[in-house]
Amino acid sequence: MRISVSKRFGEMLQGMREPLLTNNLSETYRTFVAGFETTTTFLRWALVYMILKPQVQEKLQREIVSVIGPSRPPVVADLSNMPYTEAVMTEVFRITSFLPFGAPQCATEDVQFDGYTIPKGTEVWPLMCFHSMNAQVWGDPEVFRPERFLDKNGRLIKSWVEKVQPFSVGQRACLGKPLARMEVFIFFTTIMQHFTVSSSTTQARNQPLLSYSRPNLSR
Ligand code: HEM
Repeated sequence: MRISVSKRFGEMLQGMREPLLTNNLSETYRTFVAGFETTTTFLRWALVYMILKPQVQEKLQREIVSVIGPSRPPVVADLSNMPYTEAVMTEVFRITSFLPFGAPQCATEDVQFDGYTIPKGTEVWPLMCFHSMNAQVWGDPEVFRPERFLDKNGRLIKSWVEKVQPFSVGQRACLGKPLARMEVFIFFTTIMQHFTVSSSTTQARNQPLLSYSRPNLSR
């Protein structure tokens, strides 16, 4: 039987009829969900922090203009020349921990961990934000501070960047990590290249909640 993907996707959304799907289709659907909601959630949070931290936004835009320019679309290779942008994205991942529980896994055998026995079959939820918001690791975890990932010359401190693991670790870590990293960089940089985001709470009350304007930066 031929199955129309779009029809089946529609059914999934309306009736949650997942058991009717073939395995392949079900996995395709999962991959779309895993890849769509996460990257858009990152972008929403990134814009919120750019609104809250206009000085970070301006510094980021200066780096975009100096490395990419005002109009050329960014390409993935640009990222290696943009330490501040990478620091900002890493800080967004760290402070938001927007997948605070990762994905549930299941112990396939009895496991001894930190003095506890986790019996086979136990559902395990990793608490991702435990590490990314740990004061003993970060000192001031509640503060949005991209500079924590940069040395005094503005170069990335890789060992600190690697402490942030929004895609989880181990064999079941995010399958889409390489794609997701490219996506968030390209989308975030493109938005910041063309728009400045701000909030009406610091402006006249009759303005819309968010406003956008063109960055006024030159090389
Ligand atoms: C900012 C974007 C993303 C974040 C933060 C993220 C994060 C995660 C996390 C925390 C997990 C659970 C890993 C674990 O259980 O240990 C996961 C699993 C997964 N992600 Fe992502 N993800 C992102 C984007 C994507 C994209 C773009 C795709 C695919 C196109 C994707 C596909 C998957 C799949 C298939 C799994 C299940 C892997 C498995 O169980 O073996 N993700 N992701």
